[in-house]
Amino acid sequence: MTELSAKYGPVFSFKCGQFDVVVINQWKFIKEALANEHLLGRPKETTIPGVIEHASLIEMSGESWKQQRRVALTVLRDVGLGKSEMEDSIRDQIKSFTEVIKSSEGKPITVADKLFLSVSNNISKLVFGQTSAYDDPASLLMAKMMPEAGKMKFFNVQQFMPIIANLVIKLNLFNMTEIISHIRKFESHILDEVNIHKTKNTDDNSIKDYIDGFLHEISKRQNEKDSTFHVNTLQRNAALFYFAGSDTITTTLQWMMFYLVKYPEYQNKIREEIKQTIGLNRQPENVDRKQMPFTMAFIYETLRHSSLVPLNILRRATEDTKVGDFSIPKDSLVTFNFWSVHRDPNLWDNPELFKPERFLNEDKSKAIKPPYLIPFSGGRRVCPGESFAYLQLFLYLVSFLQQFEISAEPGKDIHLESVQNFVTRKKELPNLIFKSVD
Ligand code: HEM
Repeated sequence: MTELSAKYGPVFSFKCGQFDVVVINQWKFIKEALANEHLLGRPKETTIPGVIEHASLIEMSGESWKQQRRVALTVLRDVGLGKSEMEDSIRDQIKSFTEVIKSSEGKPITVADKLFLSVSNNISKLVFGQTSAYDDPASLLMAKMMPEAGKMKFFNVQQFMPIIANLVIKLNLFNMTEIISHIRKFESHILDEVNIHKTKNTDDNSIKDYIDGFLHEISKRQNEKDSTFHVNTLQRNAALFYFAGSDTITTTLQWMMFYLVKYPEYQNKIREEIKQTIGLNRQPENVDRKQMPFTMAFIYETLRHSSLVPLNILRRATEDTKVGDFSIPKDSLVTFNFWSVHRDPNLWDNPELFKPERFLNEDKSKAIKPPYLIPFSGGRRVCPGESFAYLQLFLYLVSFLQQFEISAEPGKDIHLESVQNFVTRKKELPNLIFKSVD
C-alpha cells in the first residue's frame, strides 16, 4: 500500500471484489480522516459472512455501535477496568507466569502459549469474572487457535466477495471447515458462561463482570424496538473482548522480547532504570511509568517499529465525503495505512532503525509520545483498550527484566521478519532462554 501510494498519491482507491476500497496514507490525511464523522462506519457484513451471523460491537455502525460501545465501556469500568484491584490481579497473573518461566531456568523455551494464557486471564477477569488455569481446555484451544486465525488475509475472499461466501464454506476453501469448528467450539463455551451467569443472577443481582452488566442491560431494554441488546450480541462481544484483549497484548509482548534479545543493550538500560527507581524486588505499579522514561520510550518504539495493526480495521463511508481534495463516495470501504505513518522519513529520523531514544526529550528526563504514533488508531472509534494495553505492557516488561536476562539459543540470531495480515506477527517464534538476574 505504501508503494502504491508513492505511485498514485496519498489517497487512492481500487476495486477489491465487490467493493471500492480507499486507502489513506500520510499523517496529514489520516489525522483528517480520523476526525471525519462520515468515516466511522464499518462494512455492512460481519467479518466472516456466512459463518458469523450476528455483528459484534467492532462490526457495528451508527446508533447501535454508539450504544454498544458506551455500555461496554461503562460496564467494564464499573467492574474494574482502570481500578487498583485490577492492577493487583494483573500483578498476580504476572507472578504466576514468571514462576512458570523460572522453572525452565536456562533452558530454551517457547513462551507463546503460556504468555497468551497469562494475558488472556486479565481480560477474562473483566468479561467472565474469572481466570483459568494454564491447563484449562477452552483457554488452551484459544491459545492454539490464535496463530491459525492470524493466517487469515486482510484482503480475503470472504469479506470482499460476500456473494460467494457460502460457496467458500461449502467447498472448504481456505481451511474454512477447521476455522468454523474452532469458532463454534468457542461460541458454545461462551454460551455456557452466559447460562451460568443467568442462573447465578436469579439470587444475586450484583454486577461483577461484563456478562452480568450486559444481561442487566438486556432486561432493562426488553421493550425497546430494534434493540441490539440480546444474547447473540453478548456472545459475540464477549468473544471480541477476549480476542482483542489477549492476542494484541501477547503479540506485542513477544515483539518486545525479540527486540530485547536483538538489542541486549536496551535490556541493560531498562534494568538500570528499574534499579535506580523501584529496584528489582518490588512489583511495578502504573504510577511508576512517570519515573521510567527509557522504559516508556522502549514501549513506544516497539509499538511504532512493529506496527501491530499495519492497516486499520476496515471503516465504511456512511455518506459521500472528502479527505483533503479527494472524494470518497458513500459505502466505499476505507482503511488507514498506519504502517506508512510509522515508517515515514518526514516524521522519523531513520525510521527503519529500532531506536527508543527518539522518544526522549533533550535531557532524557521524559518520554514524549508524538500525535503521529497511532498504534491504537484515533478519534471516536479509537481502540477502547488503549490504557489497559499500556498498563499491561509496562507491568509485564518491567517484571520480566527485574527477574530475567533474556537471550536467544547459543549460535542462533534473532531475525525480525514479519508477516502482515490483520496483525503483524513474527514469521517464526524462536525459543528463548530466561536466566535469573543475580
Ligand atoms: C497493543 C494492543 C492493541 C492494539 C495495537 C490495538 C489496536 C486497535 C485498533 C487499531 C483498532 C481499530 C480502531 C479503529 O477502527 O479506528 C482497535 C479496535 C478495538 N480494540 Fe484494540 N488494540 C489493542 C488492545 C486492545 C485491548 C487490550 C482491548 C480490550 C480491552 C481492545 C479492544 C478493542 C475493541 C473492542 C475495538 C473495537 C472498537 C470499535 O469498533 O469501536 N484492544 N484496536
